[in-house]
Amino acid sequence: MTSLISQRNLNPYEFTDKLGEKIVIRLYDHHDRDKLIEMYERFDPDDRCLGLPPITKECIKRWVDYLIENGYNVVAEHNGRIVGHVALVPLGNGDAELDIFVLRQYQNRGIGSELMRYAIELGRRLGFRGILAVTEPSNLRAKNLFKKFGFKTVSSDFDECHMYLSLTSPSSRTKLQALSTS
Ligand SMILES: CC(C)(COP(=O)(O)OP(=O)(O)OC[C@H]1O[C@@H](n2cnc3c(N)ncnc32)[C@H](O)[C@@H]1OP(=O)(O)O)[C@@H](O)C(=O)NCCC(=O)NCCS
Repeated sequence: MTSLISQRNLNPYEFTDKLGEKIVIRLYDHHDRDKLIEMYERFDPDDRCLGLPPITKECIKRWVDYLIENGYNVVAEHNGRIVGHVALVPLGNGDAELDIFVLRQYQNRGIGSELMRYAIELGRRLGFRGILAVTEPSNLRAKNLFKKFGFKTVSSDFDECHMYLSLTSPSSRTKLQALSTS
């Protein structure tokens, strides 16, 4: 997926999180694989969502490789370590599915929001029609994060809540423009 990304590149940028630490948000590059695997090895099992990330090193490697080969990946980096990650995986119908994870000690510091902003802009530049996010109905943090960026719940049952952001409707464009300047 790298050739398409490089044609429509987004620049890395640095922001100061709510604890005053400098965090870099940027596209994944192939040197990051080991650091991404290391992030998921450090991931708190209590923060897993719908069985992800996997727990064993072998399963983490397979899952990370799947996302690298099939998706567009963005990372949050602090002092050379990856502390957050969002992936957009094409669904084959013009939409992409989004997965997002931030290490526990970096949560509630604005990193998830910056990753979302970047991933949505990437999704738009890549020409996706919309982005689907699937989470657990009880995952209020994720649901609030998605709502903040204009995602609407399109279906929900006991196991899964599906939220969708259209990248083509004029109302979602206006909301995203407002968020990108806030
Ligand atoms: C969901 C997750 C990615 C959010 O990342 P984060 O870096 O903590 O997010 P932010 O600090 O940018 O907060 C974003 C929004 O989340 C919501 N939020 C954060 N903490 C919350 C909490 N404890 N309860 C309810 N909502 C909360 C708020 O709406 C917040 O926006 P605001 O600060 O403008 O009010 C992160 O908590 C995480 O990795 N969780 C575990 C894995 C997961 O559930 N991933 C989603 C699977 S689809």
